[in-house]
Amino acid sequence: MRVTKDELKSLIKNKLQKAGLKEDHAALTADVLAFADERGIHSHGAMRVEYYAERIAKGGINTNPDFKFEKTGPSTGIFHGDGGSGHVAAKLAMDEAIAMAKENGVAIVGVRDISHSGAISYFTHQASKENVIGFSVCQSDPMVVPFGGAEPYYGTNPIAFAAPGNDDKSLTLDMATTVQAWGKILHARSKNVEIPDTWAVDKNGEPTTDPFNVNALLPIAGPKGYGLAMMVDVLSGILLGLPFGNKVSSMYENLSEYRKLGQLHIVINPEFFTGIKNFKDNVSQSMEDLNQIKPAPGFSKVLYPGQNNDVIIEEYSKNGIEIVDDIIDYLKSDVVHNNQYDHKGAFAK
Ligand code: NAI
Repeated sequence: MRVTKDELKSLIKNKLQKAGLKEDHAALTADVLAFADERGIHSHGAMRVEYYAERIAKGGINTNPDFKFEKTGPSTGIFHGDGGSGHVAAKLAMDEAIAMAKENGVAIVGVRDISHSGAISYFTHQASKENVIGFSVCQSDPMVVPFGGAEPYYGTNPIAFAAPGNDDKSLTLDMATTVQAWGKILHARSKNVEIPDTWAVDKNGEPTTDPFNVNALLPIAGPKGYGLAMMVDVLSGILLGLPFGNKVSSMYENLSEYRKLGQLHIVINPEFFTGIKNFKDNVSQSMEDLNQIKPAPGFSKVLYPGQNNDVIIEEYSKNGIEIVDDIIDYLKSDVVHNNQYDHKGAFAK
């Protein structure tokens, strides 16, 4: 079903409020989720509302958090999330980081004790809209084998980056450090189809093509993705004094307890380096250069990083955002949640 971004935001906001989130937090969370859907990142959009609603209703997200920003140096700080909505806390923390980077050239802000914050390019996009470079990393629940290991240690620990160009365009990267997101395994299960043997392993650490036998995901590019996941965990967990590695709380366990996830934002102000005009001109120039690269067989055009999302935004803004009917039906219904996520564990069948 096609819906406008405003319709989608309003439906999500209403449901989250019904679950117990206060109005401004519900509105901001809805904005983050609709941001994901409007660029085709459906795995982190409206699809997640029912899970959030269940966690909120069961008390696993603080609906009245005591958010505090603690400035720890001229360009550093910690945003205390107090178990509140990760989307809201990470957004407010990025506001602080942008303000400090505008003044001092760079800012590093840790966000601690939060729940899931969704597609983390929302926060780097926030920075690029303000003419600064945004970088963000966060922890997620342990479901990835370390290189050579047979059991999970790190999460899918994503990395996002955005550098502003001209005309509101930016060069962006937003990726999990795993070959495929967990959502792709769920999709294969729902269709009862095999997965490539490069995505995941079974309980013995052997590659598997059966989505129902998945016991852990594989990092991108073996030891290199493993190393990136480590870096994310050090920056957004250990650096902030939070649980790390396989002690990070699971998304689908203990829905009545706050999660204590960490996220780290780094903001760099080009004005303190090459100057913002030169920076934006050259970011735009590299976008054009990339679009001019001769395509390889099977490709019609080389897209600059993130342009795949820009293409979807353009189509959806004309024709409406495509959302699965069942999700819209749920959002429009009176049901808050169907009690289906608690104690499922990461790999529940
Ligand atoms: P993906 O594999 O769909 O995309 C990865 C990157 O490749 C993106 O930057 C995308 O723009 C770029 N890309 C894809 N096709 C392209 C093309 N043809 N040309 C140029 N660039 C292209 O992303 P993935 O790894 O599945 O992650 C999806 C989302 O999941 C992200 O928004 C991420 O933040 C979110 N996530 C959030 C987590 C959390 O705990 N909050 C955990 C893991 C992922």
